[in-house]
Amino acid sequence: MKKIFLIMTAVLCTLSLSAQPKLRADNIDEILKAMTLEEKAALLVGGGWGSMTAGSMTASSETLVSGAAGTTRPVERLGVPVTVLADGPAGLRINPTRPGTDKTFYCTGFPVGTVLASTWNTALVEELTTAMGNEVKEYGVDVLLAPGQNLHRNPLCGRNFEYFSEDPLLSGKMSAAYVRGIQSNGVGVSIKHFAANSQEVNRQQNDSRINVRALRELYLKGFEIAVKESDPWTVMSSYNRLNGTFTQQSRDLLTTILRDEWGFNGIVMTDWGNKEGTVAAVNAGNDLMEPGMDNEIERIIAGVKDGRISQEQLDANVRRMLEYIVRTPRFKNYKYSNKPNLKAHADLVHKATAEGLVLLENNGALPFKDVKKVALYGTGSYDFIAGGTGSGNVNKAYVRNVAEGFKANGIEVDADIQTWYEQYITFTKTQLRNNAAGNGLGILLGDPVVPEMEISRSFIEKKLPMTDVAVLTISRNAGEGDDRKAADGDWTLTGQERELMQTLADVYHAAGKQFVVVLNIGGVIETASWKHIPDAVLLAWTPGQEGGLAVADVLCGASNPSGKLPMTFPVSYFDIPSSFNFPHNYKGGNSIDLMALLGGGNQRRRLVKDVDYTEYTEGIWVGYRYFTTAGKKVSYPFGYGLSYTTFAYSKPVVKVEKDGTVKATVTVTNTGSVAGKEIVELYVTAPDGGLVKPVYELKGFAKTKELKPGKSETLTITIDPYTLASFNENTSAWETAAGNYTVHFGASAADIRCTAPFKLAKPQSWPVNRVLLPAEPVKEIAVK
Ligand code: BGC
Repeated sequence: MKKIFLIMTAVLCTLSLSAQPKLRADNIDEILKAMTLEEKAALLVGGGWGSMTAGSMTASSETLVSGAAGTTRPVERLGVPVTVLADGPAGLRINPTRPGTDKTFYCTGFPVGTVLASTWNTALVEELTTAMGNEVKEYGVDVLLAPGQNLHRNPLCGRNFEYFSEDPLLSGKMSAAYVRGIQSNGVGVSIKHFAANSQEVNRQQNDSRINVRALRELYLKGFEIAVKESDPWTVMSSYNRLNGTFTQQSRDLLTTILRDEWGFNGIVMTDWGNKEGTVAAVNAGNDLMEPGMDNEIERIIAGVKDGRISQEQLDANVRRMLEYIVRTPRFKNYKYSNKPNLKAHADLVHKATAEGLVLLENNGALPFKDVKKVALYGTGSYDFIAGGTGSGNVNKAYVRNVAEGFKANGIEVDADIQTWYEQYITFTKTQLRNNAAGNGLGILLGDPVVPEMEISRSFIEKKLPMTDVAVLTISRNAGEGDDRKAADGDWTLTGQERELMQTLADVYHAAGKQFVVVLNIGGVIETASWKHIPDAVLLAWTPGQEGGLAVADVLCGASNPSGKLPMTFPVSYFDIPSSFNFPHNYKGGNSIDLMALLGGGNQRRRLVKDVDYTEYTEGIWVGYRYFTTAGKKVSYPFGYGLSYTTFAYSKPVVKVEKDGTVKATVTVTNTGSVAGKEIVELYVTAPDGGLVKPVYELKGFAKTKELKPGKSETLTITIDPYTLASFNENTSAWETAAGNYTVHFGASAADIRCTAPFKLAKPQSWPVNRVLLPAEPVKEIAVK
């Protein structure tokens, strides 16, 4: 009897062990019940810094993706797998080589976010990110930590290249297209950095102090559009504070606004760092701590045990994690190939890049006519900058430079100049690398710009008779962890660059030959003082690994550029209202006070010292909203870009449908002699009498297909009433006023081609939660 009892017990024990549930898409409740507190806490904390490198996972899982940014932790007992997260946004960032194998794991270097935005072509962005998402999936990654979509509040933010625009509508639409493309592969994204992470200086601690109207209309709007239009799997909370609270610990931001108001149903993960306040983060609805440290697990366990975290909150976050996990390829046991079609993606990038290049000046020099040989100057011509530095860098197999691009277009590059530059670049890079290693900086994440070299006038004169045209590439780069400087060599040209530019112009012009500048830069620089010197200026940005080919295609006329600026190029840095409260030229503990040096005084500005907070005193007056309303001259307006052809706009019509939806149509005709695409920007002026508003704001845009000379296309742009609304702080509501509106069809913010009126009979209002207020209202500038 006793024996039978023992056998029965043993059988039951075995049964209960084997009856452990395993995670499926339809048994999340059951898994939640089966999880211990320790397992739940661990699921809310990433695999640790070590999870970035192959083979160092905390769990017994197989070697993962080398160079990925992080992982989630598995619960093997319940069939919950590890999942892998890796950077973006200009492609997938993983290590290109791994120990123990000769195989390589290169990824395509796609155009950076600013280039994508310069295309104003959401369908093209979706096509590009569909290819990018294929690499994410085929290299065994579950979530791409992208897109970055903080607003270009100030041109010197070091990560602007990763972001899209100074305008929230353009940012939001680009972001949504980006997300749809990536996620069409069955992998996820993490829209970052939520929110108001507009500078790199002291990014871990800095408090962005913003009045709610500017916050809602500008800094949250792009995220709102993307969340509503693309269903991102994850959102990344930023490092900074927002109106006093770390964003990752702000329930108002992560639950009240993101989930309750916008309907987000994915997970929120922190940006990469371990902050105090894990308990507050869990309670805020921040589901995943990345990269994840063991002490964060302990904090969560303690928080649940002493009641600071309720069981419901814990379960809500864990449930969202499980819902995320069942969506991933790793959960579905997808057998990734480690062999995406890099050649096809390179061809796509090559073809697409010209749409993001912006032709700033052209007195007829471009496209080249009868050019057989080019005098090609500038280190960037031979060492092209494909993308920015930091986590946004992509380990691509190669970068095509401008010299290669000319050769591909059948144009010779002067061999002496080329050799001279190549030797100088090799030498300087070796030195830079040695210095970096000596400083303990190790491998630099991304390419530094090789400074321009000394070139004598006599050398240029010697090369003049042998060459038909001179081209000079000016390069800049920036990246994570540092903001750019309002100084020579960054915002402004160096003396050497200026001199080289002038000498090339003088020598070539004296001989009746032309001189062209290519800007290979990640963000806005000063242009007003020198743009009249060359015959043409092509803004190439940092457009990815095929950049040099795309630049040469445009210069030679093999493709017609159709990009337009997603931000304003001001005449002077200090024309930008936020320059009075942006830590430009910050160098560690004490920033150089450039305004003081320049003798400029301004009541509004605070001496930037330890940069513990930044007051957004400019309010809604960011970018063209300020320049158009204040009537201030700019170097190049928002939305500006030339083409090799010309376009006429006609038949502007606006109709308002019963539900208040506005339908605007305009016909665009190619009136020039080559095929091209045109971007139409739709700005709206609201009736007077309500809230103070910019003279007009971007409410929609569209791009034509490629139009042959003489051909037309009628574009339709739809605007819903909510998109027309502004935020009223007094009522805590989005409000659309009744009255007479004007639609402006613009080729840029300063080039309105035609207008049409419409009337809204009834005002409309959308009340929202009165949350995220600054402790004290920020004193804003008055522009109107
Ligand atoms: C960056 C994020 C990035 C993360 C992981 C952080 O330092 O701010 O953009 O996704 O690192 O690499």
